[in-house]
Amino acid sequence: MSDSQRKVIILFPALLLFGLVFAACGVAQASEEAIEARWQSSAHANKEARAFTFWNDKDPAEIPVNCAKCHSTPGYRDFLGIEPNTTAGQVDHPAAVGTTIECEACHNDAAAAKDRALMPSGITISGLGREVNCIACHQGRASGKAVRETVAGQPADVVNAALQLPNIHNNPAGPTQYGAEAQGGFEFDGRSYAGQYEHVVEFETCIACHDPHTLQVQVEKCSACHLGVESAADLSNIRVNNIDYDGDGDVGEGMGGEIETIQEYLLLAMNVYAAKTEGVEQIVFDGRFKNKAGDNYTTWTPRLLPAAYNYQYSAKDHGNYVHNNKYIIQLLYDSLSDLGANTAGLIRPEN
Ligand code: HEC
Ligand code: HEC
Ligand code: HEC
Ligand code: HEC
Ligand code: HEC
Repeated sequence: MSDSQRKVIILFPALLLFGLVFAACGVAQASEEAIEARWQSSAHANKEARAFTFWNDKDPAEIPVNCAKCHSTPGYRDFLGIEPNTTAGQVDHPAAVGTTIECEACHNDAAAAKDRALMPSGITISGLGREVNCIACHQGRASGKAVRETVAGQPADVVNAALQLPNIHNNPAGPTQYGAEAQGGFEFDGRSYAGQYEHVVEFETCIACHDPHTLQVQVEKCSACHLGVESAADLSNIRVNNIDYDGDGDVGEGMGGEIETIQEYLLLAMNVYAAKTEGVEQIVFDGRFKNKAGDNYTTWTPRLLPAAYNYQYSAKDHGNYVHNNKYIIQLLYDSLSDLGANTAGLIRPEN
């Protein structure tokens, strides 16, 4: 080997090292900007969304205390107890309109130290990591317990015009994931329900599956185990079990399809129940429950209300098949049973 060749060989690693350090600085700098851009692309940054503009035309134009925690940055910081004159765990002041879910909502000492979330059922889920802030907002606003209290002590099949459906309100991913440990759904007496969904341990938290800034599901990570998953459209086709929960003979469809069929059965069963129960109108669902004329639904009975609540709960969680499909199917199955529907062809998941 000549001297000049040796020099090249020695130089090469040195250059490489220099290059790597240089590149690392570039990456670190770009990543801060990249994160900003990723967040900008997300629903959390969408200034035009109804979730952030709903109060703009109200008088006064401010977000009231019962909405501010989840619909603004100052409201969430008030809830964390880090705005002036605020107490942790409650919202003390209405929030100004005009914010979204900004960096400062999730990146502050209180959000970093937080390790438990109080659910609408009154149950606290503790021992949480950085997904805790997701769960504080994505937890819905009602629980099976609220439904139970609403119907307690009343004859099951008698219309009560005073009954109102507790509104779950949004994608209740947090309670779904924790199942019976959070009691988001209406759980029937004498039945047992699945607890926290046990996926593979590396993909058990909100932020393992959802990028915390784009909020998108990190599809490329799923395909390592779920072959054939190439885009978000493929996610609801995932399944690993071969149990025909909906009894349609198709165990090739994804868990999303299993749940959809059982949801259809439940809406049908609610209408069969309506047809044979005095004073109960036919029921339609378009995000809310309506009668055939398109008016808000009012002819609730104490038996219909829990079934409708569970239906709406499952329909509002757009990730129901992945957040905890066993819990969701159990709620739908038991609602069908309670309405007197024939469940002979269906399979209730074991916990
Ligand atoms: C526990 C947190 C929480 C509370 C409290 C809350 N919301 Fe929401 N809300 C959400 C979340 C999360 C979404 C977005 C759901 C999604 O798109 O996945 C949402 C969506 C919305 C939307 C947009 C979707 C739609 O239905 O048009 C409106 C409007 C809204 N909420 C109004 C309100 C009002 C009014 C209040 C107070 C009375 C309130 N929210 C209280 C969490 C909350
Ligand atoms: C909804 C909550 C939320 C919002 C809003 C948010 N982040 Fe994050 N961010 C997170 C979470 C959670 C992680 C940790 C992800 C992990 O550990 O996998 C993170 C990680 C980071 C990191 C890596 C360092 C660290 O703390 O782990 C940076 C840098 C960052 N975010 C910057 C930003 C910036 C800048 C914004 C605003 C443009 C922003 N984030 C908005 C939740 C959020
Ligand atoms: C302070 C309350 C708050 C926190 C904290 C929060 N979110 Fe959100 N999130 C919202 C609201 C409000 C919306 C609706 C925004 C919109 O409609 O544009 C939303 C929207 C979303 C969406 C899109 C839903 C849809 O309908 O398209 C996803 C997914 C999501 N958030 C996941 C997360 C994850 C993951 C975390 C934790 C890293 C998190 N969120 C933390 C309030 C919050
Ligand atoms: C095992 C992976 C996984 C985990 C864990 C997970 N999600 Fe999801 N989530 C999904 C998938 C898949 C969807 C469906 C997305 C789609 O259809 O594009 C979804 C849907 C959602 C949606 C509705 C988005 C929309 O477009 O309507 C929200 C909001 C959401 N998840 C929030 C959360 C929160 C908050 C947590 C933690 C409590 C969580 N998710 C945990 C995979 C996961
Ligand atoms: C390391 C392998 C692995 C990765 C990565 C993975 N999963 Fe899974 N997934 C599994 C296993 C194993 C199960 C079965 C768990 C059980 O016992 O219910 C499963 C179950 C599921 C189910 C329920 C299927 C059924 O039949 O009940 C869904 C939906 C799902 N995963 C979605 C996802 C999504 C979305 C991602 C990416 C964010 C992901 N998985 C990443 C291994 C993985």
